[in-house]
Amino acid sequence: MRMYDLIEKKKEGGVLSTEEIQWMIKGYTADQIPDYQMSAMLMAICFQGMNEQETLDLTLAMRDSGEVLDLSAIHGVKVDKHSTGGVGDKTSLVLGPVIAALGVPVVKMSGRGLGHTGGTIDKLECFRGFQTGLSDQKFFENVNRIRLAIAGQTAELAPADKKLYALRDVTATVAQRSLIASSIMSKKLASGSDAIVLDVKTGNGAFMKNEEDAIALARTMVRIGNMAGKKTAAIVTDMSQPLGDMVGNSLEVIEAIQALNGNGPEDLMDDVYALGSYMLLFAGAAADRNQAVRKMKDVIASKQALHKMAEFVEAQGGDPAQVYDPSLLPQAAHKIPVYAAGDGYICGMETEQIGVACMLLGGGRRIKDDVIDPAVGIELVHKKGAYVKKGDILSYIYANDLEKAGEAKALLQKSYTFSDTEYTAPETIHEVITE
Ligand code: URA
Repeated sequence: MRMYDLIEKKKEGGVLSTEEIQWMIKGYTADQIPDYQMSAMLMAICFQGMNEQETLDLTLAMRDSGEVLDLSAIHGVKVDKHSTGGVGDKTSLVLGPVIAALGVPVVKMSGRGLGHTGGTIDKLECFRGFQTGLSDQKFFENVNRIRLAIAGQTAELAPADKKLYALRDVTATVAQRSLIASSIMSKKLASGSDAIVLDVKTGNGAFMKNEEDAIALARTMVRIGNMAGKKTAAIVTDMSQPLGDMVGNSLEVIEAIQALNGNGPEDLMDDVYALGSYMLLFAGAAADRNQAVRKMKDVIASKQALHKMAEFVEAQGGDPAQVYDPSLLPQAAHKIPVYAAGDGYICGMETEQIGVACMLLGGGRRIKDDVIDPAVGIELVHKKGAYVKKGDILSYIYANDLEKAGEAKALLQKSYTFSDTEYTAPETIHEVITE
């Protein structure tokens, strides 16, 4: 086979065979196919697309480019949850302990934040001593004992995706549905869980700005998961404003702990219950979604989920005292109010820019090797639909550096749009896709 011929075929709108896709991914992972040829192929895919079979073949070839975890040493139906990424998304920090408290094993590989979006690993590292690089043995031991482990993704998992993603990032070929779906699902399938629940974000803080694109991506991923023999559901959720009221690592951990104490903001809890109900259904731990939601509410009300969080933090080397007293988590030196410049209903928020403001404070990474400040971030006092008067506090900035705070403040102030007429905030859950 020659890569030249495959590029030509795709350029002309042809369909790549299973063997051709496998050969291409194997060759690229082994550095036998150069970046310039793969770049041309990616661009051809962007213009011509891939059909369902090609997308599945690509996903499976990427999954098989590295280690595929065997989780059979963990008892029970293992469920994984994945978000396509957004601002203020601390759902995993609440869901993990809630689902584990109900006896269902949660096995999760998470990433770090990059650009305007946050990452679960950075948030968990707010706990003193918390380890995310667990050995396989420790990982299995923890899940069998406490039903929850969250680890950083290893380099051995879907290495083809690692190379391809870096190439897509610099060749303007990220935003193609088959490429995104295969990238996400190859890693999920390699992680070895039995069921997958996807949170596909849509809106101006998400990867998929447009709802139709988000729904189409969700359908593609669900089909791939089901065809690969995993129970899969996708919930398309709102990211036209940050999720919850806190943006920033330590602040989001504090908000997640509040949620586990029964005081979570409504949009965050809607997200938790929608995703969690499918996790419980797939695991056979609830008869229907209503019962699943009731069970989740019960383990929050009884504090079992909060205790599970403390147990989980301790099992991964962190300090459980910080779960019971969040004031022990990293705290910023300055809390600076941002005031409304006029009267009106908040009808728009530049979600991505709010994520960028957090990054400017030091809470996120511009480049992969940036060191983050866990304490900084933003508290949103008002969100979409609220009526504010000139001089009301819109949000607070938590900063350690006053110069950076000034930059973030200017950006935040521009991030709100106001209207004279009443405005209703969008629902958190837009669509549920199971087949
Ligand atoms: N997240 C991924 O892992 N891959 C993509 O292509 C997009 C988002």
